[in-house]
Amino acid sequence: MTLWHHLHECVLQDCHGFKKAHVKDLWAYGKDDPLVKNVVNDCMSTLTDLDMEKIMSCYDGFKEVKTLVDVGIESVGGSMFDSIPSADAIFVKNVFKDWDEEKCEQILGNCHKALPEMENS
Ligand SMILES: C[S@@+](CC[C@H](N)C(=O)[O-])C[C@H]1O[C@@H](n2cnc3c(N)ncnc32)[C@H](O)[C@@H]1O
Repeated sequence: MTLWHHLHECVLQDCHGFKKAHVKDLWAYGKDDPLVKNVVNDCMSTLTDLDMEKIMSCYDGFKEVKTLVDVGIESVGGSMFDSIPSADAIFVKNVFKDWDEEKCEQILGNCHKALPEMENS
């Protein structure tokens, strides 16, 4: 609840209310509090199930894809800043908004490493 006390400041300064209230961002906070981590992960997972159902019903670009990684869904451990599991395609949804440009470049670089070489490239 304390993060709401920072709403005004965050709207004006484009900062994260959670970090203002708890010093760490939500993801770092969750690492130290398994209950928070589980609640957040369950929410993400439920929302992504709904999103993916809709996306798969109207987008056929994943027809040939055998392994699709959704970055930020923790069924495989590890940090996206260190490495991302190899896959035929990578989905990065609701992630870049949480990080600055340098971190986003790091995630994209790891996505690039995780994808197979393109033929004729
Ligand atoms: C807003 S959620 C989006 C999750 C998913 N892509 C989706 O659309 O449902 C951001 C996710 O990034 C994950 N995350 C935060 N820091 C991470 C890190 N260093 N490595 C991997 N995932 C991380 C969080 O656990 C969270 O599930």
